[in-house]
Amino acid sequence: MTNSFQVGPGGRLEGRLRVPGDKSISHRSIMLGAIAQGLTEVSGFLEGADAISTMNVFRALGVRINGPDAGRVLVHGVGMHGLAPPAGVLDCGNAGTAMRLLMGLLAGQRFGSTLSGDESLSRRPMRRVSEPLIAMGAKIETTGATPPVHIAPAESLRGIDFLMPVASAQVKSAVLLAGLYAQGETSVTEPAPTRDHTERMLGGFGVELHREGARVTLRGGQRLRAARIDVPADISSAAFFLVAASIAPGSDLVLEHVGMNPTRTGVIDILRLMGADIEVLEPREVGGEPVADLRVRAAALHGIDVPAELVALAIDEFPVLFVAAACAAGRTVVTGAGELRVKESDRIATMADGLLALGVDARATADGMVIEGVGGAQPAFGAATIESHGDHRIAMAFAVAALRASGPIVIREVDNVATSFPGFVALARAAGLGIGQVPA
Ligand code: S3P
Repeated sequence: MTNSFQVGPGGRLEGRLRVPGDKSISHRSIMLGAIAQGLTEVSGFLEGADAISTMNVFRALGVRINGPDAGRVLVHGVGMHGLAPPAGVLDCGNAGTAMRLLMGLLAGQRFGSTLSGDESLSRRPMRRVSEPLIAMGAKIETTGATPPVHIAPAESLRGIDFLMPVASAQVKSAVLLAGLYAQGETSVTEPAPTRDHTERMLGGFGVELHREGARVTLRGGQRLRAARIDVPADISSAAFFLVAASIAPGSDLVLEHVGMNPTRTGVIDILRLMGADIEVLEPREVGGEPVADLRVRAAALHGIDVPAELVALAIDEFPVLFVAAACAAGRTVVTGAGELRVKESDRIATMADGLLALGVDARATADGMVIEGVGGAQPAFGAATIESHGDHRIAMAFAVAALRASGPIVIREVDNVATSFPGFVALARAAGLGIGQVPA
């Protein structure tokens, strides 16, 4: 990884833009399309490195996939038992979602497989997935608790009634996917609501699934029928612009066709509690997922105690929410967000280090952060060089901070921005951010 962002201070955001497709939904469209009967047509697919990793894994499992071509993908489904043994190791790159959901799906196959990932993914915890799968009868081995993951052919899986200890959509999804291959019923109960794209999309592929409060149940042995999937713009990518336009005086920006699944909109709720001016325009439903255009105008933000129930619903947006907090008047306190420590980087430590380097009064805690924001329209950040530790969301969050900096911000190791947001630099420049990418 060699490139850096150089972002000039100041600016305001204007116009209309559509950020790339939702990463969570893109991964799932390939996975469910692959094990369905028939041809699944996807539009709005995220052409980012993470979703491409998933695509390549399924090609290695014998699935014919056309595209991506301007967001269009055709998945020639092979049916529940049509995947072929892979010739080599299945490389998930930087994508935790790919690896964890694949563990669930591959645990029920009649062939063995090995999953690997890049340096960051190789540090991430996998026991949270392997434990329930092993309880279902899967044969999974990891070196310690981290990748690579070796899966031996299972004789048979049995359903489980799983009380999930961490609020994780990836763990929930892995267990449900394994449940499709298991005897009897599989249930997952979550400690707090997490994104429900797997459940919604399974429904769209014809799987019967029951939700009762925090518990979701499916019966094994069901078949999936091919579907048409329209992937909305990723609210997690839109979040950088929601914060950017909120903190840059004079901004007025419309974000088009943003996914508004209620398990993903915590970032809007949190920003509104801080005083943000976000208008939801033309709410509609597209292929089982709510979608809307969002108009965001600059506003005077103030610090808040982030409500605990919103944390899991905004988990990927905290890097940029910390930037918003540094601009807001008064103190912002985030607790109950310990999961941030096991994302693509330790996002509590990485953000606290970067914010301190920019002169922000930020204090990392075990499960969150306390930030004293400056308020008003004066610069909230100094000039500095920031280490992103190869984490896409950290890199983009600090790029947004430059809008309220007193001098240029340089962000190192930004190549992984392409995992979730290909074209970020061009889109951000067009909207008014003084950003450039340089080899460094
Ligand atoms: C994801 C779930 C979230 C999120 C990740 C994508 C998914 O992780 O952080 O970026 O697509 O299921 P959890 O498994 O911690 O919920």
